[in-house]
Amino acid sequence: MMISDCFAINDQGHLTIGGCDTVALAKEFGTPLYVMDEDKIRRNCRMYQDSIQQYYQGRGLVLYASKAFNCKEMCRIVNEEGLGLDVVSGGELYTALQAGFPAGRIHFHGNNKTREELSMALDAQVGHFIVDNLRELELLDALAKEKGQVADISLRIKPGIDAHTHEAVMTGQIDSKFGFALETGEALEAVRFAAQFQHVNLKGLHNHIGSQIFDIAPFLQAARVMLNFIAQIKKEVGIVIEELNLGGGFGIKYVDQDRPVPYGDYMKEISLAVVETCKELSLEVPYIYMEPGRSIVGEAGLTLYEVGGVKEIPGVRTYVSIDGGMTDNPRYALYQSDYTVMVANKANEPADQVVTVAGKCCESGDLIQEHTPIQSVEAGDLLTVLCTGAYNFSMASNYNRIPRPAVVMVKNGIPRVVVRRETYEDLIRNDQ
Ligand code: LLP
Repeated sequence: MMISDCFAINDQGHLTIGGCDTVALAKEFGTPLYVMDEDKIRRNCRMYQDSIQQYYQGRGLVLYASKAFNCKEMCRIVNEEGLGLDVVSGGELYTALQAGFPAGRIHFHGNNKTREELSMALDAQVGHFIVDNLRELELLDALAKEKGQVADISLRIKPGIDAHTHEAVMTGQIDSKFGFALETGEALEAVRFAAQFQHVNLKGLHNHIGSQIFDIAPFLQAARVMLNFIAQIKKEVGIVIEELNLGGGFGIKYVDQDRPVPYGDYMKEISLAVVETCKELSLEVPYIYMEPGRSIVGEAGLTLYEVGGVKEIPGVRTYVSIDGGMTDNPRYALYQSDYTVMVANKANEPADQVVTVAGKCCESGDLIQEHTPIQSVEAGDLLTVLCTGAYNFSMASNYNRIPRPAVVMVKNGIPRVVVRRETYEDLIRNDQ
């Protein structure tokens, strides 16, 4: 059983993705190369959509958190599947609009949206703003007033939940740069404040507790805390909050030992907690938003690299150098993230060697994985890192002036380029 159901091994012992031979893909499109399986992405979208139907009788919407992987084609796919879109910058918004994504289904996030970004979003008639702080609230109200609009908003709330994940991706606790804290009364103050403005319409509350979370418990806890806050607002401020965004953060499987909760189970348990808590608090069940990113695209992608030098340091370790690195996947350097690594052209052979996979950047920390089992590997082999569909392309950089790889999307066994490979010319395009 492979780590994701879009990967398999063919008769030649080559790894395949979405029915395409990775060796053939590397030959046709070059390396390094991101490859994504469109069918898998669509299956994930549908699974979330179906659970909104099933558990909330359709009274909700799944927003794809596009920071995980955003390009025009991805926006088109998400639109076709009927999801909404979470964007967090002018650039993500621009990409979505250029792809023809309906602005009404876009939710605009971010802890420091600039005046220009807010103005651009209002001009585009973006459907919803998730307001992070009082300064943004004032700015948005003033801009909306100038433009003769009323913007639908939610307030980003820190529910005070400590989710068990890497520190750098935890966001629900009080010491976080995102949103209004509940414990200090700051959130309630923000609600009172928002209620006074004429050009923002406070529709909802939002929370997001972190990313790559394997437990259900913190999600349930967060949902209960948020609903209690909605009840408190009703009682103390007299405002009915109609919408609740429960964020994203569901973990995926990067390595064999990972045990992600099936998303259907997450959705079921969370919805049960929402419905039950609403009953206890005599509240109507709010319109629910969920915001998955990683779990829609992560397991749908892999990266292909050509192996260059293999450097064996006796008694120390063996470095396997690849033609990419932290520029296309900074996640090990940043978070020591686990990945499954394979030799794609020898996928059937036993992984009986232990190596460290190193990138080509001028930096010792440019590693993709340390002490990882792999098939016997030599120069010219095709090395693959699995489940790189989320937060790889979107976090890529041009460090060392390395061009970003192409992204190939596979559908029904047919590959197509959805983001072309950067050229050296692209690298100097803005240089004067
Ligand atoms: N909603 C909000 C407000 C978020 O901040 C995020 C992720 C999501 C939804 C989607 O979370 P997901 O379902 O993808 O876990 N660069 C890090 C992950 C940062 C996540 C940031 N926010 C990584 O590579 O692991």
